[in-house]
Amino acid sequence: MRLIILISILNILLFADGGEDIFKKRCSSCHQTYIPQPELLKSYFDSNNSNLNLTSPTLVELSYWLRDRVGDRKGDRESQIMEIEEFLYNYLKSPDINSSIIPKGILRYFRQMPKVDIGEDEVEALAIYLFDIGRKIVKEHGVKIYPTYQEALEVAKRENKIVMVEGFITYCRGCIKMDREVFIDDRVKKALERDFVVTKINVLREKLPLGLKSLGTPSFYFITSDGKRVIDQIVGTGTVDEFLELLEDIRDSLKRGEFYK
Ligand code: HEC
Repeated sequence: MRLIILISILNILLFADGGEDIFKKRCSSCHQTYIPQPELLKSYFDSNNSNLNLTSPTLVELSYWLRDRVGDRKGDRESQIMEIEEFLYNYLKSPDINSSIIPKGILRYFRQMPKVDIGEDEVEALAIYLFDIGRKIVKEHGVKIYPTYQEALEVAKRENKIVMVEGFITYCRGCIKMDREVFIDDRVKKALERDFVVTKINVLREKLPLGLKSLGTPSFYFITSDGKRVIDQIVGTGTVDEFLELLEDIRDSLKRGEFYK
């Protein structure tokens, strides 16, 4: 009993003004957390929102739109969070659908959000929370990503799998699209997890392995399990089916012993 009370007090102290809690209390009655992007797009555009009948956008959508459409998306993190904070502060105080960041084709399904009475500190916590949460949730639903090339290579060696390195930069729209629409797909996850080990490299910060040059972003480099040869490299985005086909081609190339270098 004592322990439970202690834990509750600790939780309150630690998370009392966390953006997550504020969002849960003040926003989640309307904004649900996550619906996979392909399902959302299908409902919005193929069925006039009648599939899902959403009356408010999801938390993950809000997070992505804020990062994409408020402030300088290519600037540094702290500055953009401040810009988002200012936007949120104003929007919550006086929502105005005419200055909305929601894409027009989707906005038409929603009525204007009611005003929310909220303090500056709470908005600050919300801005920090909303900045990261979209990508965090999408990552949790996506294919397993190893934190470094070295770790990916070790697993690949042990399990005799192909290493797939994705070259990305944080604000690359194509990379975001792949994360939200392709790497969360069950078939893609299964195909990748069966024969590949995946890692990502921010090409502005780190070098690609084997002296490879970045082709742009997103780009994909497929490397043999001994880390010695590049099976293929490719740049650009694709659909789930196209990506599955690419993985099939990579497996075939390896079987036939055809390498890029
Ligand atoms: C009563 C339901 C409701 C509540 C509560 C609510 N929202 Fe909304 N929100 C909506 C709806 C509906 C929209 C879409 C229409 C619009 O943008 O006004 C929206 C849109 C938004 C947008 C996009 C703004 C834009 O540019 O269009 C943001 C950001 C947002 N909400 C954040 C929040 C946050 C943060 C909270 C909690 C502090 C919150 N909402 C609480 C219903 C709600």
